[in-house]
Amino acid sequence: MRRNLPYFVALVSLVGLYHLSTSKVLVGTENFTGFKDEKSADASNPKNTYEDARLTTFETTIPGGELVNGFSLLDRLYLRKGTFYIVTSNTSAFPSKNNIIARPLDIGTGHDLLCTDKELRFITPAEAKNTLGDQALPVDGFTLIAYDTEQFMKHFYHWWGEIIFGAWRVYSALTGRSKETTGLPLPSRVLLPHIYGTEWRDIPGINARLMRAAFPSTSIEKFDYWDDLILLDKTVVFERAMIISREAAHTHHFYNSWYKMISSTMAVNTSTDFWEPIRRITIQNVVGHVPEINYRGVVVSPRWAASEMPFVTYIVRQGGARRLAESDHEGLVKALKELEGEGICQVNVVQMEKMTLEQQIEVMARSTVVVGVHGNGLTHQLWMPPSARSTVIEIFAPGGYFHDYEILSRSLGRKHYAVWNDTLTTFPKGKYFEGVSYSDDFHGLSIPVHGPTVAQIIRARLTGPIPKD
Ligand SMILES: *[C@@H]1O[C@H](CO)[C@@H](O)[C@H](O)[C@H]1NC(C)=O
Ligand SMILES: *[C@@H]1O[C@H](CO)[C@@H](O)[C@H](O)[C@H]1NC(C)=O
Ligand SMILES: *[C@@H]1O[C@H](CO)[C@@H](O)[C@H](O)[C@H]1NC(C)=O
Ligand SMILES: *[C@@H]1O[C@H](CO)[C@@H](O)[C@H](O)[C@H]1NC(C)=O
Repeated sequence: MRRNLPYFVALVSLVGLYHLSTSKVLVGTENFTGFKDEKSADASNPKNTYEDARLTTFETTIPGGELVNGFSLLDRLYLRKGTFYIVTSNTSAFPSKNNIIARPLDIGTGHDLLCTDKELRFITPAEAKNTLGDQALPVDGFTLIAYDTEQFMKHFYHWWGEIIFGAWRVYSALTGRSKETTGLPLPSRVLLPHIYGTEWRDIPGINARLMRAAFPSTSIEKFDYWDDLILLDKTVVFERAMIISREAAHTHHFYNSWYKMISSTMAVNTSTDFWEPIRRITIQNVVGHVPEINYRGVVVSPRWAASEMPFVTYIVRQGGARRLAESDHEGLVKALKELEGEGICQVNVVQMEKMTLEQQIEVMARSTVVVGVHGNGLTHQLWMPPSARSTVIEIFAPGGYFHDYEILSRSLGRKHYAVWNDTLTTFPKGKYFEGVSYSDDFHGLSIPVHGPTVAQIIRARLTGPIPKD
């Protein structure tokens, strides 16, 4: 591991301090100073010594003051022999252990997932010395710890749409509702204690490539790092960490409405711009430029990529399972092309699996409207530019309903429509489809859609007054 003097010098000033970070983006600079700020540089604080940074009696704290079930952001989180420790003299300042972490076993297989003393313990500063020893090895920066098995990792939606997106939403709340999330330091490392090889990677290889693009300086550590620390038989202290645990996220009451891991993160009070820093870095690093759109949804820069009309992208699934009846697919393309003929939009009909990753991101990065059958392609809405006209139109087999892509849309301030053939459903803020709904042909090969219905809503979204919600 990269270790040098400046890292430790910086640590000296970190002791016991947690704050709402508004520091500059520090990633990629040689002298990464983590959460150092003006206050912590105050040499008159007698606690700011290198030795103190290592003391196990320093209490764990919650930056921002509130823990989100399954996405728990903690400063000074201790780890010894594979067990996390929260050192506190006031356990009532923390939620129950089950809201923080669950046993790392597959969900739905009959295992008891309730957290035990093996995963996490609360101890008092007085107990810390006996349990953890006098000193801990400091692990600096921000560590994302995805504590689950590979069961719900090896999939573009689960990794990017839930784990990374949910974590960033919660983390970004540290800066309040401002656009200052740009200033949050990126994670120094992602730790996957229960991943042994490539299990977190999805088959098309999108998860990993986009991680390298979005977080080129972030290392991804797996079970061997975790085991090294167990064998070392020392206590380490994570300066700032987020424990991400799917089953713990499921304990939030919002889960009972939407049945998604990231339901709990919707309780966080953050701006719909929260994702912008990650969206922009990713697009910049994959595509080479970030398209900017105006109030009409028209690409205005860079100049050479400017368009005359807003882009509408239809993500075709006719190559795989869960797809439209062929004639309805053709009818949808025809209806969209008619909109193009009317001068309302420019239409891209794309089959993601036939495109390079760069092409996939590029087309989404300039799309104001995206249409597609329920499926992973809609995770790519993460790269759509934010705007008041931004719209995701998700086609389900009539009667079917799941919240995966709707939560992403709402989290980002986009309008989301569910389409059941010729019927549109959408909800204002605060209202939602009740429950989830499987229909017999949910994964069918001849899902109906009435093209003109879809075209009509796109016409309204792109040509009407700027929508308010
Ligand atoms: C890092 O810190 C050293 C010593 O303070 C300084 O000389 C050097 O210019 C810094 N490097 C960067 C990239 O800021
Ligand atoms: C312990 O935490 C609770 C909840 O945050 C708080 O109301 C209480 O004042 C704290 N007690 C002490 C002694 O700090
Ligand atoms: C969210 O944060 C803003 C700005 O800090 C505040 O005005 C608003 O009341 C908060 N909303 C909720 C629901 O806490
Ligand atoms: C879909 O809607 C169209 C237009 O209302 C209707 O003509 C068609 O029969 C519907 N298809 C199915 C399968 O219900």
